[in-house]
Amino acid sequence: MDFLELKNTAEIELEKIKNSKELKEFSDKYLGKKGEIRKLFSFVKDLALEEKKVLGKEINEFSRVLEEKVAKFEKELKKAEKERKEKREKIDITAPGKTIETGHLHPMTQVRREMERIFELMGFSVVEGPEIEDEWHNFDSLNIPEGHPARDALSLGKTFYLKDGNVLRTQTSSAQVRYMKKMKPPIRIVIPGRVYRYETTDASHEINFYQLEGLLIDENVSVANLKAVLQRFLDQFFQRKVEIRLRPSYFPFTEPSFEVDMLCTVCNGKGCSSCKRTGWVEILGAGMVHPNVIKNGGLDPKKYKGFAFGLSIDRPTMMKYKINDIRLFHSGNLKFLKQF
Ligand code: DAH
Repeated sequence: MDFLELKNTAEIELEKIKNSKELKEFSDKYLGKKGEIRKLFSFVKDLALEEKKVLGKEINEFSRVLEEKVAKFEKELKKAEKERKEKREKIDITAPGKTIETGHLHPMTQVRREMERIFELMGFSVVEGPEIEDEWHNFDSLNIPEGHPARDALSLGKTFYLKDGNVLRTQTSSAQVRYMKKMKPPIRIVIPGRVYRYETTDASHEINFYQLEGLLIDENVSVANLKAVLQRFLDQFFQRKVEIRLRPSYFPFTEPSFEVDMLCTVCNGKGCSSCKRTGWVEILGAGMVHPNVIKNGGLDPKKYKGFAFGLSIDRPTMMKYKINDIRLFHSGNLKFLKQF
């Protein structure tokens, strides 16, 4: 390399250096014992005296300037590296600690557990049934024969049928017979869980919601027992004396059947928009277990009687917390959820 070329390439290479390792390599290459500048000197040595003087001086000068530049650059790089390290290692002992935010149970889970607790205190066990049901358990076992409108997919029944012939359970009642077969009377169970219906969603309808089913089977069971258990449950749940009434109704799996209403909490029975001006709010369905259902459960209906009831968990949760739109439950909206 001649001197001019060396000068140029050295300048260009120096510009590109990014760290001390590269700088060291550069310094070795040009200023080192076997470096380019030494090589030049050994070449100059053989020149005529005049030339030697001029070129020697120039090379010396260049070498000096280059050494200076390298030294300055090294200082800068060291400083920057030190700063970077300090920044990384800096510990601010006055900084507040990181708090790990824990969430909380969904309002409906809280309410479900509260309901379960009340029934457990009355001697009921909490059990569960499958969400994917066969038609027999969801309908036939409950005295709902083939062709019954409740089995309809769209208009009345709102059943989701699966390709394999099973259904998404439309009611937690579907687990009744499963437990009659499994347990020996006296049977006292509640069955909470998710149910599915082909609904057009609006403020009071969802395609899935939660129910709590109750079933009691024993030798001497009457409507009075049913009423007492429900009264006790509702008083405990709403934390006050709730006025209820049993209104005759019809379910295929109970006989007699009732709708249980409670006095409207908004207007106290006077009639308002919440209770459709009737003064009463329908809260659950109930009745004495139909002999056919007891038979389907493998028990003798002459010996055993029972009562059953089913209530939605969503509805009482909405009443308790004055929630006006059922869709909020599945919205994942933190603004809503954080309130509970
Ligand atoms: N399965 C009914 C429904 O989904 C609710 C119900 C009514 C359950 C009466 C019962 C009952 O066990 O006895 O609408």
